[in-house]
Amino acid sequence: MLQKADLFSSLINERVNMINELSESIEKALHCQEDVVEGLSFCVPKIVDTLLRYSEIEKTDLKKLGQELNLYAKNNKITTEMISVVLNEIRKYFQIKIESLPINYDLKLEGITQLGQFIFELQSYTMHLLIEDLEEELDNERELIQEQEKNLKKLQGERTQVLSKLSNSFAHELRNPLTSIKGFVQLLESRLKKVTDEKMYFQYINHEINELENQVNQLLFLSSYKTHQDYKIQRISSVSLIVNAIQTFHLLLIDNNIQLDVKLEKDRIINGVEEQIKLAFYKLIQNAVEALLMKEKGRKLKIELKLDEDIVIIVSNNGPPIPDVLKDSIFDPFVSTKELGKGLGLSITKQIVEKHQGEIICISEGSWTTFMLKFPREQIINI
Ligand SMILES: Nc1ncnc2c1ncn2[C@@H]1O[C@H](COP(=O)(O)OP(=O)(O)OP(=O)(O)O)[C@@H](O)[C@H]1O
Ligand SMILES: [Mg+2]
Repeated sequence: MLQKADLFSSLINERVNMINELSESIEKALHCQEDVVEGLSFCVPKIVDTLLRYSEIEKTDLKKLGQELNLYAKNNKITTEMISVVLNEIRKYFQIKIESLPINYDLKLEGITQLGQFIFELQSYTMHLLIEDLEEELDNERELIQEQEKNLKKLQGERTQVLSKLSNSFAHELRNPLTSIKGFVQLLESRLKKVTDEKMYFQYINHEINELENQVNQLLFLSSYKTHQDYKIQRISSVSLIVNAIQTFHLLLIDNNIQLDVKLEKDRIINGVEEQIKLAFYKLIQNAVEALLMKEKGRKLKIELKLDEDIVIIVSNNGPPIPDVLKDSIFDPFVSTKELGKGLGLSITKQIVEKHQGEIICISEGSWTTFMLKFPREQIINI
């Protein structure tokens, strides 16, 4: 008669062999789906037979076998699909075996309980693997996205740098001759004593020169080179900023049948360069009006001052939305959908806002396009 200890060790050996066989068949199955069925039909009966024999002799230790299988699966990186195949096979075979046991309810009950426990263990391990897989996948995806974002930022940075350099040199090329033209025109004009038709022409010439100067300054503004060194930081009333803008655009809005809706809150002070903040805000209104002109009827413009953590100035219009393909690039210089557009407005606005430690947000959904300028209540200005 075999001693209990011998029996136990031979059972353990048997189980180790059995697990090895299982591992081989699983490994094969990882390479060829057909082998999995063959492998499983070969080793699952063995596992269960051993298990049942074991339960008759020494009280079932299915949990232990479950743990070993789990450990094996963990060490050998078995996929969750594999575990579910194994699980199914074991479940099927085990149930048949339990049903064919002699009618001993206690034994059957215990077998079923143990089977349940075993399956539960394997299933929770499957879940664990599944979550690990998902987490790994998620991590990979996250890394990929971060990498792509980094590349995109780098590319955008390079692009903006090239554009800035280009606009800077272009603007300088224009500015110098323009300054001489302006000077000579003023000289010529001063020599004309009488108010003649020619004097009238000078008005036009000066107007056009100023326009050109304005454009050149915009280009210079875009470049990273600082051209206006001595900015004076002022205390700007956000309510006055809006009221002044309404006065400036009032006639244009009436002429074009644009209904204006204004919402104001308690006045707040923005610390900044007034002329620049004004420019940023006016560029948004200008864009909103231009978008509304593409619409026949029901043109609406909303201007709002909101106070939360920041001072928020909102300009919305119900004109045609910004096309999805453009949404990521509207703040880049020279992006425009307009026939005569230079595509500078939003990039200048963004630059101004960011120099004031603020933020610009655009939402264009459904029938409304909204731009928000956010300025911090207390900002350190580094212009
Ligand atoms: N409120 C808006 N509604 C719809 N589209 C807009 C709006 N604001 C901007 N856009 C889109 O973003 C593009 C870029 O605007 P941006 O102000 O930079 O340049 P632009 O208006 O085309 O030219 P510029 O302002 O230099 O005269 C516009 O051409 C337009 O397609
Ligand atoms: Mg514009």
